[in-house]
Amino acid sequence: MCGIVGYVGPRAAVDVVMDGLRRLEYRGYDSAGVAIVAQGQVALAKKAGKIANLDKALAEQPLPTDGLGIGHTRWATHGAPNDVNAHPHLSADGRVALVHNGIIENFVQLRSELAADGITMTSETDTEVVAHLLGQAVAAGSGLGDAMRAVCLRLAGAFTLVAVDTDAPDLVVAARRNSPLVVGVGEGENFLASDVAAFLQHTREAIELGQDQVVEIRSDSVLVTTFDGKPAQVRPYHVDWDLSAAEKDGYDWFMRKEIYEQPKAVFDTLLGRRDSRGALILDEIRISEAELRLVDKIIVIACGTSFYAGLVAKYAIEHWTRIPCEVELASEFRYRDPIVGPTTLVVTISQSGETADTLMAIRHAREQRAKVLAICNTNGSTIPRESDAVIYTHAGPEVGVASTKGFLTQLVACYLLGLYLAQVRGSKFGDEITAIMEELEHIPAALELLLDDMQPVLDLAAEFAAEPSVLFLGRHVGYPVALEGALKLKELAYIHAEGFAAGELKHGPIALIENGLPVFVVVPPQGRDMLHDKVVSNIQEIRARGARTVVLAEEDDHEVDAVADVLIRLPKVSTLLQPLVATVPLQIFACELATRKGHDVDQPRNLAKSVTVE
Ligand code: F6R
Repeated sequence: MCGIVGYVGPRAAVDVVMDGLRRLEYRGYDSAGVAIVAQGQVALAKKAGKIANLDKALAEQPLPTDGLGIGHTRWATHGAPNDVNAHPHLSADGRVALVHNGIIENFVQLRSELAADGITMTSETDTEVVAHLLGQAVAAGSGLGDAMRAVCLRLAGAFTLVAVDTDAPDLVVAARRNSPLVVGVGEGENFLASDVAAFLQHTREAIELGQDQVVEIRSDSVLVTTFDGKPAQVRPYHVDWDLSAAEKDGYDWFMRKEIYEQPKAVFDTLLGRRDSRGALILDEIRISEAELRLVDKIIVIACGTSFYAGLVAKYAIEHWTRIPCEVELASEFRYRDPIVGPTTLVVTISQSGETADTLMAIRHAREQRAKVLAICNTNGSTIPRESDAVIYTHAGPEVGVASTKGFLTQLVACYLLGLYLAQVRGSKFGDEITAIMEELEHIPAALELLLDDMQPVLDLAAEFAAEPSVLFLGRHVGYPVALEGALKLKELAYIHAEGFAAGELKHGPIALIENGLPVFVVVPPQGRDMLHDKVVSNIQEIRARGARTVVLAEEDDHEVDAVADVLIRLPKVSTLLQPLVATVPLQIFACELATRKGHDVDQPRNLAKSVTVE
């Protein structure tokens, strides 16, 4: 996730900004930059890679120590992580410098408007468009604050923007929509940052900026307005967290923070995927529509949690496109002489983009002339670079080793791919695709509500903390959810946990059921087919044998009341999308149970975030 810092005050802005960027490093980034406005000019330095590269550049060519400044650590979304795409970006006349966190959905349209005005882009970023728009506005006579308000009204998407203007040497202006920004209020100095960690050593007084607000900071004033220029209500608060809590936004673990970031991660992954007529656009797909129409088989390849996202993808892709879809563990794929050819679409799913097993599988598939499409969270990583096409999940960096928001956004990307293939191949009508997209667009709000009501799951984790074994059952797309619930518990709590397809119980696993064994069961939505009722019968079977049943079922499903020892209610969604909500309580359960056992949740034993050996 990008990190943003702004400073105006008597200290050397370059030092304050660089120090703030270092304190935001934990957010993950692939390039960094700083701009100082001093002596009527913008002085700029930006470098791909770690902040150490920027330090080196500054040592060779120091920036002025007076003036005010802004800085940025970038997590690439549009455009590769390189020096040119790093922020800050400048307006065409070099007067305005801008940093940005988020995604400008309508940047393609704005870029063409700027091109018509004779402005050419120097980078591949969506951000640069905004720098030029601000530049045009101030050149036409607007103050930077007014320019920011006017430009924000033209932007669609999610953004935090922070800008400086050589003609306003005492002013830093920022705007916020759907991306974080806080103001640090000092004495004779003020700060802006993505989170308080960046300025905590200077001040503990902060103001949280609301949605669609612009803030203008000078060394002795903070002015907050709405995008349309009305004075806005501000919410000042005192920060009493220490630095480590501040990095985690007050949560005890990055993993817990990342679980709670999922509504936004899903929202961001859905941003900008439909054009003005509602048709799906996946612009990173560099495989032609003609080639996609020829695809006669899809093979999804991934490891661990990403593999479970692939299992869900199979149900959705086959149902929507009628293309046969296999799902394979990357570590198994190339060793079984798979049947792959030019009309096979290989879909790889990887949060890190560096998993060696998945990478080797891609290379094997490409040797057989298959087209490879990567679903990945890490822009510029090896897997998307070696693939023919990519759909980026916009989860932001995942710091906790156990994948959470990575998984949910992979599910979203798989649904998008399925719907896009259905659109290209005409296997679903446009209005059917629109209806599913609209349901997906409601998921962030449903997740917010779900996350607000997790106390019963926390209580359950306390109750089950001493259990030696827990089972998870599901059918259809609930089966991968069961596998994911079990994996989370194994890797975090180090206890025996297994996920089973509920229908398989009677073929063996039911022998494991004994008095008091906790069994989580994911119940499909009540629908026309028999799936729901079959799962309810499965619950009856295990309960009759003494299992303690924890039932995850949709909110008005009362058929489960009598068979559940504990009921966890899920928002109402259609069957194929249910993994997006059903997984969340299982993540919270594993995180809390591991915390209760005193384990390091962010760094479980023996595990690495990115497995770069086969
Ligand atoms: C489990 C987990 C791992 C990863 C797996 C693949 O919580 O995080 O199972 O899902 O190692 O990693 P990526 O998605 O980076 O290829």
